Amino acid sequence: MSARGTGAASGSVIERIERKWAIAMSAILVVLVAIVIFTGLHWAMMPPSRVETVQPETLNSSGEFVEENLGSAIEPDGSVTVRIVAQQYSFTPQCIVVPANVPITFRATSADVIHGMLITGTNINSMIEPGYVSTFRTTFAQPADHLMPCHEFCGTGHQGMWAHVKVIDRQAFDALERHSGARRLSCAG
Ligand code: CUA
Repeated sequence: MSARGTGAASGSVIERIERKWAIAMSAILVVLVAIVIFTGLHWAMMPPSRVETVQPETLNSSGEFVEENLGSAIEPDGSVTVRIVAQQYSFTPQCIVVPANVPITFRATSADVIHGMLITGTNINSMIEPGYVSTFRTTFAQPADHLMPCHEFCGTGHQGMWAHVKVIDRQAFDALERHSGARRLSCAG
């Protein structure tokens, strides 16, 4: 076979392989798009529809995430908002107290690097990123103690970074609120 013939043959081999790759890539794309459509329709999973930003440098000095505003707040409609700041290597508050059978909105942000939070025994699982507010809603069906570890590697103290979530019944929560006199509740008072 001449040198020219070999070149043409290898050219057609390359073309065949490229076509196979193109087909494989297209198939993967189709599968991924199908997964997005399926999860969207079947489980009502949505990409985040809004992005809330916050200045991580001024968390301590002003705005929603100043220290005295962290913890559980009772809203006028009876629901509870819990504000949390994550930092290397702890959550504030360290122990979160919420009532059972009441809609709870968590709002969390980070003062430094990316952290994560998951509440054991529930489907709550979120990343906490500096500069952004992670918001999610839930209702705890019954009183229970949950652990809330950080699940994003955030440095040498990562494995020691966790908090408690104490779910107590509604009456106990209301009594705690009446007696503590604090603007925001946590297990500490
Ligand atoms: Cu914070 Cu890992």
